[in-house]
Amino acid sequence: MTRGDGTLAVPLRVPEALETPAISLKRGEACTLVIFGAGGDLAQRKLVPALAHLHCDGLLHERFAVIGVAREAIDADTFRDRMHRAVRESEDAGDVPESVWRDLAPRIDYVRGDLHDPALYATLAQRLGNIEEDAGDRGRLFYLAIPPSVYEIAVRQLSNSGVAPRTADREERPWRRIIIEKPFGHSRETARRLNRVVGRAFAEHQVYRIDHYLGKETVQNLLVFRFANSIFEPVWNRAHIHHVQITAAETVGVEHRAGYYEESGVVRDMFQNHLLQLLSLTAMEPPTAFRADPVRDEKVKVLNAIRPFDPAGLDDRAVRGQYGPGELNGERVVGYRQEPNVDAESGVPTFAAFRVLIDSWRWQGVPFWLRSGKRLARRATEIAIQFRHPPHVMFPNDSQRAIQPNRLCFAIQPHEAISLCMEIKVPGIGVRMTSAKMDFNYNETFGDHRHSAYETLLLDAMVGDQTLFARKDGVEAAWAVVDPVIEAWEAAPARDFPNYAAGSWGPDAAQALADRDGVRWRRP
Ligand code: BG6
Repeated sequence: MTRGDGTLAVPLRVPEALETPAISLKRGEACTLVIFGAGGDLAQRKLVPALAHLHCDGLLHERFAVIGVAREAIDADTFRDRMHRAVRESEDAGDVPESVWRDLAPRIDYVRGDLHDPALYATLAQRLGNIEEDAGDRGRLFYLAIPPSVYEIAVRQLSNSGVAPRTADREERPWRRIIIEKPFGHSRETARRLNRVVGRAFAEHQVYRIDHYLGKETVQNLLVFRFANSIFEPVWNRAHIHHVQITAAETVGVEHRAGYYEESGVVRDMFQNHLLQLLSLTAMEPPTAFRADPVRDEKVKVLNAIRPFDPAGLDDRAVRGQYGPGELNGERVVGYRQEPNVDAESGVPTFAAFRVLIDSWRWQGVPFWLRSGKRLARRATEIAIQFRHPPHVMFPNDSQRAIQPNRLCFAIQPHEAISLCMEIKVPGIGVRMTSAKMDFNYNETFGDHRHSAYETLLLDAMVGDQTLFARKDGVEAAWAVVDPVIEAWEAAPARDFPNYAAGSWGPDAAQALADRDGVRWRRP
């Protein structure tokens, strides 16, 4: 079969005997999940559907309960009805049978209150106490799905009220843990400050800083691919790799989040967290064990080895963009500045491309090209490793095409796949070559697994596994990478915005920058 990009497809099959059962090996521990901001988008679109799905798979403990906390004056029945609707409408868990919901619903409670008010925490303590009256330990998992401006107050109150005491020992039971959503800080300084506030209230082993990209299937598979196979690691370095491209392209615009996005922009929103997480997993040294600290130690080393962006030479390493009006999927869409609640002269970037260099023995001279943008031509997140050209080509000049270097591609979304592109001979007399792709496609191999990142991460938090969560030093190191770019760009507003049309692949300057390395941005 020939693909749209001209390569041949060679499907890679998993031998039947090696297929693993779909059932996860771990099951959540007995606990109560307290969701602050339960009336919000995240709780309704992601968290509650993820819980319903986990329950469907039998992964929630029989002594699991949920308390939603929000300001709205509604009763628990109304809250449950809303969550029921959210589950039915959710794309992640629309197939949850009614019987599963009927079993889960009675375990969902609601507490109304203001995060600043100590009375809220007294009520919460009482409700938690009632739930915990039965025999055996029950953990408490607090999820901050609230605006970052109230993180500190919630953390302090949880601690001061005694609802979530600090526990010195990771093994201490019953456990108390907190999940903190992104954005974790607005800069390195504010992230540090938040880390200090959190660190006074909780020990690091109690803190789960979530980045939902780490819960995505292919992202986790990157670890397995690199460290459970022996053939790739020897070529995973500067001697064999020409460059790496990491793309997170979105077709959506700013949607209803202009208030947040105008303060944030693409670098804070996507680079500080998701893209640098993907980069550190791709570039890190082999950890000694698949445990939280050995893995996170190696990731932090990569972030610390990134060559700082020098504001003076920034144009050689970074490009910014903002979308103007355009056409996407056959429909006219407005530009960023015309979106509701966006400043008509906004200088906020909705696209950026970075040339990242890692000063280490392994990666010296290998550029990591990172790009992300809203309203691009297609939704695609991928990591593409481009190998070097063969040092010497013994074949006679093929008049039709030059030899293409090998490329290994981890498609993260919308389709999860791993493919290896290589040169092969076209059958027939004479030597003519073409590219073929060896493909491993998750859905074709394992069927439709419909397992959201939030399911993975919620379950990990319930069993106390921090491997896929950011550590204190990792968050600060990532901010240290992006801060100089953000500061330089905020100090010198772009004069050419908007500089790409919605539905395109970003500003021309992004390609012009890559041209200097002889790199063509991929069109996933
Ligand atoms: C979020 C960003 O963290 O990630 C959003 O705030 C972005 O702006 C989203 O749209 C992308 O997530 P995903 O899973 O759709 O790639």
